[in-house]
Amino acid sequence: MGYELKSARYLAREVILQALLPGDTAVDATMGNGHDTLTLCEAVGPAGHVWAFDVQAQAVEETKKRLREQGMDGRAELIHAGHEHMAEYVKGPVKAVVFNLGWLPGGDHGVTTRWETTRRAVESALDLLAPAGVLVICAYPGHAEGERERQELKAFLSGLPNRRYNVLHQRFLNAGAGAPECFVIQKQNET
Ligand SMILES: C[S@@+](CC[C@H](N)C(=O)[O-])C[C@H]1O[C@@H](n2cnc3c(N)ncnc32)[C@H](O)[C@@H]1O
Repeated sequence: MGYELKSARYLAREVILQALLPGDTAVDATMGNGHDTLTLCEAVGPAGHVWAFDVQAQAVEETKKRLREQGMDGRAELIHAGHEHMAEYVKGPVKAVVFNLGWLPGGDHGVTTRWETTRRAVESALDLLAPAGVLVICAYPGHAEGERERQELKAFLSGLPNRRYNVLHQRFLNAGAGAPECFVIQKQNET
């Protein structure tokens, strides 16, 4: 099948694959089961580098296993820490930062991303982005904390100066309340 208009995650992946070139650097702010970390590792190739964060040891272990199975474990640094500490670990500038908010599928739903820490991480990500670099965020408003996070995120991103960032908000209008949404932010090239 050719082009498929499918889901917020699918849209996010399309952006990542468009934005990254072999040799680039990227960040997965929410490692989870490692699907996005693997996508980033594939896109940056053997000469690139990926930093990935998660607060749960289970996520780090799952991601380590996934990358090892695909022979990609040398491309990523898996960091067992909150993404709000991103600036302490990541050497910028980076070409892409990915957030897939919410909780670990198959894990503890009590451990979910929260706006207060997400905001600090998004601010760090914006600072770390290279000119023309992209920040891609999937938000899940289907639960109370996810809806609060989505609303705050939308308000925060709406206030970014348009001479420095282009901000896109993608949502499926007929998918019903609580459907995942995708935000794409690109830093402008310096003039
Ligand atoms: C929806 S999952 C991510 C899925 C993942 N991107 C994948 O491809 O499998 C969200 C993850 O965010 C993690 N998380 C929650 N708070 C966090 C924080 N402050 N910093 C980093 N990760 C966090 C959760 O532990 C969970 O694993």
